[in-house]
Amino acid sequence: MIEVPDDAALDGPFGWALRSGADLNRVNTILTHGNDDLAFTAEQSVAMRNRNRRTLAQRKVVITAEDDPTMVIAHATVRLPLLDNLNTADLALVVHPDYRRRGLGSKLARWCEDVATRSGRTSWDGYFSAGPDDDCPDRLVAPGGGSIPASHPSWLFASARGWSLAQVGRMSVLDLPASHGSTAAVPQRSRESGHSRTSRDVWLGSESSGVALGGPPADDYEIEIWDGDLPRQWVPQLVAAKRTMSTDQPLGEVDHDEETWDEQRLIDQVETEREMGRRRLMALAIHRPTRQLAAYTEIDYTPGETAHAMQNDTLVLRAHRGRGLGIRVKLANLDALTRLNPATRRVYTWNAEENEHMSAINTRMGFRPDTSTAILHKTVAPA
Ligand SMILES: CC(C)(COP(=O)(O)OP(=O)(O)OC[C@H]1O[C@@H](n2cnc3c(N)ncnc32)[C@H](O)[C@@H]1OP(=O)(O)O)[C@@H](O)C(=O)NCCC(=O)NCCS
Repeated sequence: MIEVPDDAALDGPFGWALRSGADLNRVNTILTHGNDDLAFTAEQSVAMRNRNRRTLAQRKVVITAEDDPTMVIAHATVRLPLLDNLNTADLALVVHPDYRRRGLGSKLARWCEDVATRSGRTSWDGYFSAGPDDDCPDRLVAPGGGSIPASHPSWLFASARGWSLAQVGRMSVLDLPASHGSTAAVPQRSRESGHSRTSRDVWLGSESSGVALGGPPADDYEIEIWDGDLPRQWVPQLVAAKRTMSTDQPLGEVDHDEETWDEQRLIDQVETEREMGRRRLMALAIHRPTRQLAAYTEIDYTPGETAHAMQNDTLVLRAHRGRGLGIRVKLANLDALTRLNPATRRVYTWNAEENEHMSAINTRMGFRPDTSTAILHKTVAPA
């Protein structure tokens, strides 16, 4: 087992481990999802790690093949939140399909659990995805609803180590071009925000600006679309909304306290996307009478690629719920995506199975369920 230093670079002595580790993740992603849409490249993983050092510490080990010391056949990562949830740790491990049932997973799990314990973390989370083919009748039901196959190898592995099923999430996919009921037109004008870095970092318009973005006619709310940069005037309210978002979605039996958000964390998130070669597209609903942020939604996409995008957060602030703002911001953002990056063929999104409102919105938009995500949990006594 070889530990990969936290500052390892792709052109440094551990570059092989980072690249071969990314290859292993790709193999595992294809096995689960049937394509590699959701697998990060080595460059993306490094960008993510480097940009988020203030929020997350990370330890990583790899195991290599006996006949090829540069081929990673199994690896594990422990992530330790640094700003909030200081009692928690995220444990992730993958063994190459050709090397399973030889004890490598157990070896890595022992290492992860040891690192987490020594770091003073007593509440651990782990994840795995059950693909669409894992459709067996014998199901294990999570406390909030949603289920996974009771005989799934990852569950057998985790439950034997004392882990429980805390929640099941649903990954859904929308195939594009979609017929999602929008009649949006391409914005005919755009205005650069003062701090733009490129001509694409623009404020693209709002319903009140005369730019048609689809959705219902103007009322108390206007929708603003932002591509690739943060809308500075909304940053303080977005920071508060991010804090709310961290606990306002159903969490099942996941042990997760409110996250600490500030402007820097928000900037880091958007910059992470940029450094990963992607862009963050945001739709904001603004309540006209009070100039309060009422809702926001985010899509991360890779410009120019005939591939996929990720639908991330969607939040309608409590005072503004029940007015159809959730689907309105999501549709406006999707319209913007199809105009800005017509090559996008698939959009993925994730929500908790018990989040009925969001599931209903996604279904109305044409998303179809793809895979289930099991969120595993284990609590241990302090060392
Ligand atoms: C889960 C995973 C890490 C297991 O790795 P592994 O190297 O095969 O695990 P081990 O050989 O140490 O298995 C330990 C025990 O887990 C259970 N187990 C693992 N795979 C199993 C399977 N396919 N069927 C039944 N039991 C299984 C068994 O109890 C096994 O002990 P045994 O071999 O003595 O019967 C591997 O299947 C994997 O990478 N899956 C995809 C990613 C993932 O799910 N990560 C972990 C999330 S918890």
